[in-house]
Amino acid sequence: MAEKGPVLRVEGLSKQYGTRQVLRSVTLSVNEGDLKVLIGPSGAGKSTLLQCINFLVLPDKGQVFLDGREILHTRRRELCAYRQKVGMIFQDFNLFDHLTALGNVEIGLTRVRSMKKGAARERAVMELERVGLGEHAGKYPAQLSGGQKQRVSIARALAMDPKVMLLDEPTSALDPELITEVLSVIRNLVSEGMTMIIATHQIGFAGDLANEIIFMEDGAIVEQGPPAKILTRADCERTREFCSKITSPYGESR
Ligand SMILES: Nc1ncnc2c1ncn2[C@@H]1O[C@H](COP(=O)(O)OP(=O)(O)O)[C@@H](O)[C@H]1O
Ligand SMILES: [Mg+2]
Repeated sequence: MAEKGPVLRVEGLSKQYGTRQVLRSVTLSVNEGDLKVLIGPSGAGKSTLLQCINFLVLPDKGQVFLDGREILHTRRRELCAYRQKVGMIFQDFNLFDHLTALGNVEIGLTRVRSMKKGAARERAVMELERVGLGEHAGKYPAQLSGGQKQRVSIARALAMDPKVMLLDEPTSALDPELITEVLSVIRNLVSEGMTMIIATHQIGFAGDLANEIIFMEDGAIVEQGPPAKILTRADCERTREFCSKITSPYGESR
């Protein structure tokens, strides 16, 4: 059998804001079932990288390939189809406040995937159950905790049958006691074989589950490798310095 290529490949992505180079020719490959964890100081370009991969921010240079095919983001239909395949989860949930949990999951199914109301409802209920929110389907975002809101946003992405999920600090807006419930949903997705790139400083989680940790600084990938290496015996001094801060007993938040 022919060797399968990466699901997602990013080549030479660069982005400048004004005079500031925020991404410097970032290249990376993600294989099916991989969990890649992005770490790096604030301002390193982690969010910009994820946003460029989803074309929420347009890169100045570089290409994105899904299943070996370059995404031509200027073609609206192609971009729309691609965004279903590459779901994005934000730090601040991005839910519609005027819709219930169910409504938030349903809307993509009816509007984007043109599903009939009944089928969309059935699927939305299933996805909410998958993230442990079956009983909260009728609640509005204001009636949900941060952890529950984030799980709704994960359910919404899952309803689109994504091939890859991009998660940008999905737990960093949450109180510590709510982080665990969201990480446990993400853990389940990992065990189901979902392909993901996550920017997070939940080092316990990353150390347990990541195939690879990618350390970024100043718009570039400094070093990448298996967690055991990156977190404890990285080659670059800067990686070691950063990791020693986030893995110290005081810096770590599991
Ligand atoms: N919309 C924007 N306009 C101007 N500068 C931006 C914008 N978004 C991000 N930046 C800048 O880009 C750099 C990288 O930001 P970001 O990707 O958010 O980093 P990280 O997610 O690693 O903290 C920062 O210096 C930030 O101020
Ligand atoms: Mg960020």
